[in-house]
Amino acid sequence: MSQNVSVLVVCLGNICRSPIGEAVLKHVAKERGLDITVDSAGTSNYHIGEDPDDRSVAVCKKNKVPIKHSARQVQQADFRTFTHILAADEANLRNLNRMKPRDATAEVRLWGSYLDGEAIPDPYYGGMNGFENVFEQCVKLSNAFLDDVFGTSTQGVE
Ligand code: 4NP
Repeated sequence: MSQNVSVLVVCLGNICRSPIGEAVLKHVAKERGLDITVDSAGTSNYHIGEDPDDRSVAVCKKNKVPIKHSARQVQQADFRTFTHILAADEANLRNLNRMKPRDATAEVRLWGSYLDGEAIPDPYYGGMNGFENVFEQCVKLSNAFLDDVFGTSTQGVE
């Protein structure tokens, strides 16, 4: 079953929140023994081709979570390719719903809707603290998402 779950994590620039979200969700799924596909993208074209922000790389490195991504913009085909598209905040969700094609098959939701309904705040113009908070939020949201899709029985691996 897990082979059929594919997730696209989406934010605005695809250099701060969603590459961290992609890295963390991959890591948590692997710890649980779940084989899922995870990618990330941005609603904007601002940073296409760029590596993740240095602060995103730093927080992942500190927590020993591998991060590797080249920024890209969301494509219409993503709505047919992925089973789940997870938006970091409400503005991202609105933009996704605007670009969603008629034949979309992906479930498009605020990632926070799997836990507490909270958005992941944009850390771009702040300090390292914001990136630490994004990382911790992504760990909680990854667990909440995987609990919802696979059930809590897959928990328990440190
Ligand atoms: P992200 O953060 O959406 O989490 O990747 C941002 C990155 C870049 C910009 C805004 C937010 N920007 O305006 O360039």
